[in-house]
Amino acid sequence: MKAIELRRKYIEFFKQNNHKEIPSAPLVPENDPTVLFTTAGMHPLITYLLGNPHPLGKRLTDYQKCLRTDDIEEVGDAGHLTFFEMLGNWSLGDYFKEESIKMSYDFLTKELNIPSEKISVTVFAGDKDAPKDEVSAKIWENVGIPKDRIYYFGKKENWWGPAGQTGPCGPDTEIFYDTGKEKCGSNCNPACSCGKYLEIWNNVFMEYNKVGEGQFEPLKQKNVDTGLGLERVIFILQGKENVFETELFKGTIDTIKNLSKDSYKAESARIIADHIKASLMLLLDGVRPSNVEQGYILRRLIRRATRHLRKMNIDLNEISAVAKATIECSKEMYPQLETKSEELISLLVQEKDKFVATLEHGEKEFNKYLQQAQNEGTKVISGQKVFRLYDTFGFPPEITDELAKENGYTIDIEEFNRLYKEHQDKSREGATQKFKGGLADNSEKTTAYHTCTHLLHKALQIVLGEHATQSGSNITEERLRFDFKHPQKVTPEELQKIEDIVNEQIQRDLVVTCEEMTLDEAKKSGATGLFENKYGDVVKVYTIGDFSKEICGGPHVERTGNLGKFKIKKEEASSAGVRRIKAILIK
Ligand code: SER
Repeated sequence: MKAIELRRKYIEFFKQNNHKEIPSAPLVPENDPTVLFTTAGMHPLITYLLGNPHPLGKRLTDYQKCLRTDDIEEVGDAGHLTFFEMLGNWSLGDYFKEESIKMSYDFLTKELNIPSEKISVTVFAGDKDAPKDEVSAKIWENVGIPKDRIYYFGKKENWWGPAGQTGPCGPDTEIFYDTGKEKCGSNCNPACSCGKYLEIWNNVFMEYNKVGEGQFEPLKQKNVDTGLGLERVIFILQGKENVFETELFKGTIDTIKNLSKDSYKAESARIIADHIKASLMLLLDGVRPSNVEQGYILRRLIRRATRHLRKMNIDLNEISAVAKATIECSKEMYPQLETKSEELISLLVQEKDKFVATLEHGEKEFNKYLQQAQNEGTKVISGQKVFRLYDTFGFPPEITDELAKENGYTIDIEEFNRLYKEHQDKSREGATQKFKGGLADNSEKTTAYHTCTHLLHKALQIVLGEHATQSGSNITEERLRFDFKHPQKVTPEELQKIEDIVNEQIQRDLVVTCEEMTLDEAKKSGATGLFENKYGDVVKVYTIGDFSKEICGGPHVERTGNLGKFKIKKEEASSAGVRRIKAILIK
């Protein structure tokens, strides 16, 4: 079975079980500032898991593109992918453990014909926050999994979420495929990383809301959130050792093999294949290399891929050949990769060129250090110097090491690692700060900013013209950020008018109402249709008095009167033809 067929089969199966299909959301969450990327199918659904009704009902299914970069230097090994697809099904306060487990079991054994003997499962062992999940264990037994293949584990293994610091979460039951490898010891079990057991599906019973460290409250409704790893299942079904041998990557790996000839390195080839695919998917979703947030991750992915091309003595211009092969492998799953291939490849090459320039720059600096070392009579380049090359010149330590060796020197890698770790700890602290406040928590403040965004959107169109439509939005508890199409700088006079119009609507204390209708009806009603393909057939339309009407998932405030005073803090270019406004509400 090919990956595309697995995707179709999955969606079809859940549709037959009364689920509605929802489209895959973009890799960069649109209204969630607390995470850089969509890392699971449940991300775009958080507001519905918290109790906000979904316009398509209580049973949903989709295939969701995801990106995970928990530790980017470690991704790209045999078992992990940066970009992957998660097949998912959700119950929003509808079915719970029994139906969920039965459907998963039937799909695996009847639709995919995976022998029941190959399946082991884990369930939650219970602790002070939630009871031992004997209910799930019993259901597993009833469907035919014997007791000795049902394992109990604690939170570390069998609890999922929240995706941020706070939000929906709960005990889960995980489904493992037994690869048939020997047990690594008498204690070998699904929690073991030896490779015998491969996790393929996670069914999370989201009935808790984490509201703070160690604080769990029952959610309004008992939800199910499941995620099946498409790439993993596909290599199992095809009887392959890993995903790089399947049609999703094989063409890319073969191209790298041909290009590298004698200097082929399997691990480097996988890293390149993984990173180039992830980079193309990010570029396709509008991310551009930069030094911050998503753009920085993209930059690192491209640079790391380039480094590994270099490791195999592949001419760096061949990055386009690798990208072409990647598109060839993925175009069936993501046809837009092919339609936009020229643009995507040229962006990739531009970033590679920048990196090559960095390398040249770094080499000059390195030569100075070499000279200094010579003068000082030492054969070691200090960790501090290696770190400076890395931090200031973006020069990777592996390359410093290579160059040092070529010249008969070594580098103090231990000192470098220590400095690197210090630096990492600092940036992690920064990131934790940034992510505090939880994930799309529907807090009063973010909800207020959300409604305010609608007012701003309309005001922009009044002042600048109808072309000034939304191309991105990002809300934190502290501010809103709104990207819109406009060819030139917005003048101070225009900004003042926009601000005045928004404040006027706030003062009018307009009522905000929500209606559900079909997409067609919504368009006919004059609602602004943003990200149309994001929505299913039935959509929510939020109307703010006589001022604005937009298709949107919500949530919103009930009246505009309490929003506070709207103030634009900044107007700047975001990308070609797109401007960005940052604004705040002052209470
Ligand atoms: N959210 C869960 C996971 O990512 C199930 O989809 O594993």
